[in-house]
Amino acid sequence: MMLLLMVSMFCPCPLEIQRGSTTNLAPWMMSVAASTIDRKIIDRLVTGDGEIIEGTSINTYDMGNELHPFTYGGLCGDLDDSVKGKIVLCNLRDEGSGLLRAGAKGAVMVEEHSSYVASTFLLPAIVVGSDGGEKLRKYIKGSAKPVARIERTSTVVDSAAPFVAPFSSRGPNRLVPDILKPDVSAPGLNILSAWSPEAAIPGYADAQSLQYNFMTGTSSSCPHAAGAAAYVKSFHRDWSPAAIRSALMTTALPIDPSKNSDAEFAFGAGQINPVAATNPGLVYDVGVDDYILTLCGIGYNSSDIGLISGEERTCPSDYKGSPRDLNYPSMALRIDTGAPYRANFSRTVTNVGAESSAYNASIETSGKIDVKVEPDALTFGSLNEKQSLVVTVSWHEGLALGELARATLTWSDGLHNVRSPIVVYTFV
Ligand SMILES: *[C@@H]1O[C@H](CO)[C@@H](O)[C@H](O)[C@H]1NC(C)=O
Ligand SMILES: *[C@@H]1O[C@H](CO)[C@@H](O)[C@H](O)[C@H]1NC(C)=O
Ligand SMILES: *[C@@H]1O[C@H](CO)[C@@H](O)[C@H](O)[C@H]1NC(C)=O
Repeated sequence: MMLLLMVSMFCPCPLEIQRGSTTNLAPWMMSVAASTIDRKIIDRLVTGDGEIIEGTSINTYDMGNELHPFTYGGLCGDLDDSVKGKIVLCNLRDEGSGLLRAGAKGAVMVEEHSSYVASTFLLPAIVVGSDGGEKLRKYIKGSAKPVARIERTSTVVDSAAPFVAPFSSRGPNRLVPDILKPDVSAPGLNILSAWSPEAAIPGYADAQSLQYNFMTGTSSSCPHAAGAAAYVKSFHRDWSPAAIRSALMTTALPIDPSKNSDAEFAFGAGQINPVAATNPGLVYDVGVDDYILTLCGIGYNSSDIGLISGEERTCPSDYKGSPRDLNYPSMALRIDTGAPYRANFSRTVTNVGAESSAYNASIETSGKIDVKVEPDALTFGSLNEKQSLVVTVSWHEGLALGELARATLTWSDGLHNVRSPIVVYTFV
């Protein structure tokens, strides 16, 4: 009998994700994108003519070095026992129960877009992209006696990691365009996780019990981020949720935008670094009153706000603030054609590093926008001391539709680097 050790979820998510698809946009939430980790899962199919096709699956079955008859099964829907003892090439991906019932030795499943998501199957299997599938169809057609074997899964260090998974929702923020979402990225692709032996296994009708499973999705990234937040909290019991989020954002590992053209709309501030987040130096803190002013600024009235905050709140009648003034660790600005030439973000940082410390600002910009910060040096004489600053962003020429101009502001005291992403963009 077959023993299933690990199973991963079939991801129903589309591969081409649209900008503006991020949900959970409230400014008091931490929105987490799904990034890759440096364990890359590799599977290989070897054909009789020595060709090696790479694919993705969690294949714990060991076929040894023996080659098996290899045949084409189309969609592999209704298979008869002509596939018995053979490796079958299928135009569709499923968990493999039909193939198993028909006595197939293994399966090669072709997916149009090559997938990063590794799943287990009920028999030795590998998922290949359409190019690989085409090569294999040609091999089967052109060979008098096609044979193949599927190798056991191995892993290699992925030097391209981290980057954001194709299925992870993209910013900008459709509700409050001037607050960047997602906030950060955390591992969410092919994550080995503990699994309740009582729980059902997604994609499998028959009840089997597991202790571990490979999972993929932002639903795997969020527990990483929540765990990192709890870890930071364990060092700083008195920090607010916003201070913890700030620590996770400003210490995040930058992700190379050449790996995700949506840049900050894909990865936010970058991939969380829980250890660095315990000692961020400075935090951008936010309290309940600040969130309420933000809601006032985007047109919520007192009764709307009461529904959210659970208490009577009135907006100051003369309030003219913008969500850009919320003390967020990132800065975002949506512009239209004919938009103003410059915009300000006001911020306040709180010293949580050394009692007496001095920070200098440094700015990196992609060139489309100029960024200035005033003051550009901050000195602190005590812990929890606050200092205010204004970041001014200006641009010389308009942005094209869908263009994203990027910059970063980093405060450094030589020990801590407190990094904030800045984005200016157009969006319809
Ligand atoms: C507040 O706005 C909501 C719509 O968002 C409206 O139904 C309600 O009557 C308003 N309340 C007041 C006190 O203006
Ligand atoms: C923006 O900030 C700069 C520097 O603090 C200040 O001189 C300017 O008046 C501000 N502009 C607006 C529109 O608030
Ligand atoms: C900050 O800038 C001042 C003046 O340029 C310099 O003397 C100091 O060493 C800088 N501090 C750090 C931490 O870079």
